[in-house]
Amino acid sequence: MTWQDSFSVGVKEIDEQHKKLISMINSLYSAIKKGKGQTILQDILEGLVQYVDEHFGTEEKYMEQYNYPGYLAHKKEHNKFTEQVLEVYQDFEQGKQVLTLELLDFLKKWLKNHILGTDKKYALFLKKLG
Ligand code: FEO
Repeated sequence: MTWQDSFSVGVKEIDEQHKKLISMINSLYSAIKKGKGQTILQDILEGLVQYVDEHFGTEEKYMEQYNYPGYLAHKKEHNKFTEQVLEVYQDFEQGKQVLTLELLDFLKKWLKNHILGTDKKYALFLKKLG
């Protein structure tokens, strides 16, 4: 997955976080493809889970701070995705074969659609506020 200018929401801090998320998903993909060991996969997956949480926290802080009307709906999407990612992590820890290309495809598609749809809406709102 490569960063495209069309992914930019126009807020530098958020763009940087999205770039990092893309890079982490790519690292996971690359590690799976190269058949890296469980410890490495676990480290990458754990890092991704933590960074997803950090990133959502940043966005939610801004949305709350500026009384964004779509805050709750946006947070709901974040919560659902967080639950899904945590479930993958827990399944992985239990030794289930969850790190598949289908999973990577899901992560990529979710992130892309979320950035282009949901994130762009609140970013536009913030930009209008100046
Ligand atoms: Fe960039 Fe709403 O996640």
